[in-house]
Amino acid sequence: MEVVVVPTAEDAAVLVADAYQALLTATPTAVLGLATGSTPLPLYRELIRRHREEGLSFREARGFLLDEYVGLPPGHPESYRQFIRAELERHVDFAPDAIVGPGDAGRDPLAAGPAYEEAIRAAGGIDLQILGIGADGHLAFNMPMSSLSSRTRVKTLTPRTRQDNARFFGGDVDLVPTHCLTQGLATILDSRHAILLGFGRGKAQAVREAVEGPLSARWPASVLQLHPHATIVVDEDAASQL
Ligand code: GLP
Repeated sequence: MEVVVVPTAEDAAVLVADAYQALLTATPTAVLGLATGSTPLPLYRELIRRHREEGLSFREARGFLLDEYVGLPPGHPESYRQFIRAELERHVDFAPDAIVGPGDAGRDPLAAGPAYEEAIRAAGGIDLQILGIGADGHLAFNMPMSSLSSRTRVKTLTPRTRQDNARFFGGDVDLVPTHCLTQGLATILDSRHAILLGFGRGKAQAVREAVEGPLSARWPASVLQLHPHATIVVDEDAASQL
C-alpha cells in the first residue's frame, strides 16, 4: 500500500488523472472501475478537461460501476448509472454501452450479483478501480462488518445511510431505496490497481484505520492492506490522523 499526501483534492485529481492517462495510452482497451459520491468529482472534471484539451480518449475503454440502488426506475436522476452519465460519460467519448453497473445485469437482483461478477471476469478484470471512503470506513456499499471475502450482492441499506442520502431525494427518507447492489470487498481486491481517494477531516479516522489499523471488517477499507497494488491519495486533512 502506498500513501500519497497532497495539499488539495485538485492536486489529487491531477496525480490520479496521470495514472489514467498512462494506462489508457498503454492500453486503450483498459477496464475502469468507476465510483460515485462527491470524492471522485474533481478527478472526473480533470479527465474531462484532458479529453477536451489533450485528446485523452476513452473510445475503446470499458467501465464497471461499484454499486447501484435497487428499485429505482431506469434513468432515475439519483441512480448511480445516471450519476456517472452526467458527471463523466456524456462529456467524453466512451462507446455506447461501454459502461455498465450491477443493476444492468438482469432484472432479478439476486441473480445480478453473480452475473455482474461474470461480466467483470469476461471483460478481463478491472485494471484501475477508483474508490471513495465513507466516514465509517465503508467501501462502495460494503458497510462495517461486511465480509472481507464478499462478492457483488444485494445489501440492505442501513437507516443511517438512507438518512444520509435523503438529501438527494428531496429530503424524504421514504423515497430512498431500501436495498442496493454492491461489488464486494473481494471483488475490489481483484482489481489490478486500486486508488482510494479521501478528502477532509471527516475522513481522517477512516483513513487512519484503513492504513494503520488492524485488518478488520469493522473498517472495511482496511481490506486494501491485502491488495497487491493499492494507492491511497489523501489531502492533508484526511491524513491528519496518520
Ligand atoms: C456512498 C457510496 C460510496 C462513497 C461514499 C462516500 O456511500 N456508495 O461509494 O465512497 O458514499 O461518499 P462521498 O465521496 O460523497 O464522501
